[in-house]
Amino acid sequence: MEFWIATGNKGKLEEFKLLLQKNFPEAKVHSAAELPHYSSPPENGQTFLDNARIKARSLKAMKPNVWIIADDSGLEVEGLGNLPGVHSARYAGPKAADSENVAKLLKMMLIRAGTNRKARFQCCLVVFNPAGEESVHYGTLEGEISKTPRGVHGFGYDPVFVPAGQTQTLAEIGAGFKNQHSHRAKALQDFISKVTV
Ligand code: IMP
Repeated sequence: MEFWIATGNKGKLEEFKLLLQKNFPEAKVHSAAELPHYSSPPENGQTFLDNARIKARSLKAMKPNVWIIADDSGLEVEGLGNLPGVHSARYAGPKAADSENVAKLLKMMLIRAGTNRKARFQCCLVVFNPAGEESVHYGTLEGEISKTPRGVHGFGYDPVFVPAGQTQTLAEIGAGFKNQHSHRAKALQDFISKVTV
């Protein structure tokens, strides 16, 4: 099976590679970043599904007849009215670094969130099979926002996200936990449980 992942995010790509190759040992997993003429489309949808579809369709136009997987994911924080949500990657500005997004989040928590630190990661996967048929898969990881960043693993908001039932942040726990329990892992497990090859 040949999978093309519509992401330039190395953290996400590594997670997809690990999970796909665990379930399909012969799978070849490529990233859109390998295509010289690919530029990621504007993610101007209102929902995770809208944006995952935008990414999946734009990659499918360049790579027909292979498996295409696009995810759109983000962090919803209850005390911030579920922000940053679909704006997670650009919370502190269009080209914001992960550290800038985390700093803005912690600042907004102080200003707005009060004592409610509950949060969840959401993932929506849009998959096209080589025949061009679309399927949609979801995954969620519940948790809360820590008061300070901790840990060195992962990417994005991992240093400030403590999964429910854990005391460490995702960036402290490391890849083993995410590969089993993350929002992306759950959405991908849903795809894997339904796929027919
Ligand atoms: P996307 O690439 O447009 O889907 O943006 C997703 C953004 O949500 C990322 O840039 C991160 O800021 C955040 N995000 C999504 N998944 C994770 C995760 O597993 N850990 C930490 N941050 C994440």
